[in-house]
Amino acid sequence: MPMIRETIVTTAGPAGLVHMAPLGLIADGEGWIIAPFRPSKTLDNLRAMPFAVANYTDDVRIFAGCLTGRHEWPTVASDEVPVRRLAGALAHAELAVDRVTEDEERPRFHCRVLRLATHAPFLGFNRAQAAVIEAAILVSRLEMLPRDKIEKEVAYLQIAVGKTAGPAERQAWQWLMERIAARYSGPAPAAGDRKGRPHWR
Ligand SMILES: Cc1cc2nc3c(=O)[nH]c(=O)nc-3n(C[C@H](O)[C@H](O)[C@H](O)COP(=O)(O)O)c2cc1C
Repeated sequence: MPMIRETIVTTAGPAGLVHMAPLGLIADGEGWIIAPFRPSKTLDNLRAMPFAVANYTDDVRIFAGCLTGRHEWPTVASDEVPVRRLAGALAHAELAVDRVTEDEERPRFHCRVLRLATHAPFLGFNRAQAAVIEAAILVSRLEMLPRDKIEKEVAYLQIAVGKTAGPAERQAWQWLMERIAARYSGPAPAAGDRKGRPHWR
């Protein structure tokens, strides 16, 4: 299996409107593969405007925020692509789509790196950040995974959050836990309401 890096991918929608989504970029030699499952706004945007930015951030509120309806994070213009980038990222890579491997479920956009820039130092690993990313992945599969698996994994991840989180990680964790609680507080959504995505990894 190739290496995967969890990033916030920005793409440009109609009228240049920025869209951001947490996506795992798949290592592909010197470049990266973006592999969104259908249906996906990222996918639609990449077809219309074949550029993206991989935003490398340790602010896990953005991962949790994007999955809980909080998409309003500050962005700035990029240098070489017509796609805005996250203002607060530690680093970013500006990407151009070279070719697409078509697939009914999950097309793969093979991207070349046009520019890589660093904005702030990487200050080391934090277990709560890793736990938030794992919990965000669980939340993105909430309609597909059994409740007992979600609850068991959350209970384990909570240990790292309790021991090592700062304010940003606690905030991100809270948003995700609220989302999980809301999911189990009422009836399951009707099949038609679900996003219809298969497991994406
Ligand atoms: C860490 C992380 C990695 C993800 N990677 C992928 C991915 O590689 N492909 C995918 O389709 N969804 C992935 N997701 C789920 C998407 O972020 C989510 O479904 C999002 O809404 C994408 O849809 P959109 O392009 O319509 O916004 C990931 C979620 C998280 C938290």
